[in-house]
Amino acid sequence: MILVTGGAGFIGANFVLEWLRSTSEPVVNVDKLTYAGNLGSLRSLQGDDRHKFVQADICDRQVVDDLLATFQPRAVLHFAAESHVDRSIHGPAEFVQTNVVGTFTLLEAAKAYFVSLPAERREAFRFLHVSTDEVYGSLGPADPAFTETTPYAPNSPYSASKAGSDHLVRAYFHTYGLPVLTTNCSNNYGPLQFPEKLIPLMIDNALSGKPLPVYGDGQNIRDWLYVADHCSAIREVLANGAAGETYNVGGCNEKSNLEVVHTLCDLLDELKPAPKGSYRELIQFVTDRPGHDRRYAIDAGKIMGSLGWRPMETFETGLRKTVEWYLANQDWVNGVKSGDYRKWVELNYADRSAGVAA
Ligand code: NAD
Ligand code: DAU
Repeated sequence: MILVTGGAGFIGANFVLEWLRSTSEPVVNVDKLTYAGNLGSLRSLQGDDRHKFVQADICDRQVVDDLLATFQPRAVLHFAAESHVDRSIHGPAEFVQTNVVGTFTLLEAAKAYFVSLPAERREAFRFLHVSTDEVYGSLGPADPAFTETTPYAPNSPYSASKAGSDHLVRAYFHTYGLPVLTTNCSNNYGPLQFPEKLIPLMIDNALSGKPLPVYGDGQNIRDWLYVADHCSAIREVLANGAAGETYNVGGCNEKSNLEVVHTLCDLLDELKPAPKGSYRELIQFVTDRPGHDRRYAIDAGKIMGSLGWRPMETFETGLRKTVEWYLANQDWVNGVKSGDYRKWVELNYADRSAGVAA
């Protein structure tokens, strides 16, 4: 049994689905179901006894203690977070609460659980913390890519809260010997991503004939990784990573935002042509994000060299798959936009007091 936090979110849901497609080991999935949590993403697991879903807040120590005692996981994989930079600018409090206090609560509970285990199970136990490249701050055009030893320099409330959580995770290894692993990954894209993030937002706006809002001059650079490749990296680190180590994860796909939006428009022109003209005509340059980091780039040499991990998708193949997924799953997008995904939760998980549902 593994315990996953945030498994109803974008990356967590992709991870849980792939895990249960390819292994028989059960998952207990703990998610608060904030606006970003969507049980509709896990609909295919209904009736699958290997998936136990629990709606809970990771800041609730009692619940976390109970879950660890009940399910006795061999590992905790910590995805849960407030994840959207723009939201952190307008409302940082939730980010500090979930990302810092929530991670601290999980670490405290995991430490107590870890010391209670018999020696053999203690040896095998891992706490894997899923983090971001944004903790390293912003690169200039000629700077080398982030390595695991790049100093932390977070610039947004989101990245500062993730940096705080990374430091706590590190401290629990050095001070208490909790066997932790941390991954710092670049920008993910793929199926099931909430349409507030750049790629799904642009696909949805284009299909709705709405403007495509590019912040600033569109020359900010992100290093894109298909979500399934991030999930395979996490599995590799869980299986073979060295306790106490951090691993950068990225796809060597540095693209400016404008390049990404152009490529998306071209794919949509091919796969779902607009009644007239190109989707590129919808692009609008808008006021920049405050404190907008200029460039991220990941040096993934450590995870590739020491664990043999490789991404399967190029940016071109991954983006095509993503556009095809959104075109084929408009009901998922419309459910999110209309708020129906929340109603689905109410209908199917009405008995929350029971705590655990398959
Ligand atoms: P997401 O916003 O799509 O999902 C987050 C999930 O966490 C949601 O299901 C939400 O309900 C849940 N959650 C939030 N607060 C909670 C709480 N207090 N208790 C329990 N559950 C809670 O995020 P994502 O994009 O899937 O990111 C997952 C993790 O990966 C995050 O830690 C993020 O920092 C990290 N990450 C994301 C990216 C990316 O590009 N999306 C890249 C690198 C790292
Ligand atoms: O680098 C990893 C991080 O990537 C993760 O840790 C975060 O959880 C994840 O949200 C993502 O952060 P970004 O801020 O890079 O992602 P976002 O999709 O919000 O924006 C990507 C780029 O596109 C960024 O430079 C801002 C720009 N942008 C974004 C939106 C939503 C636009 O130009 N227009 C938009 O409408």
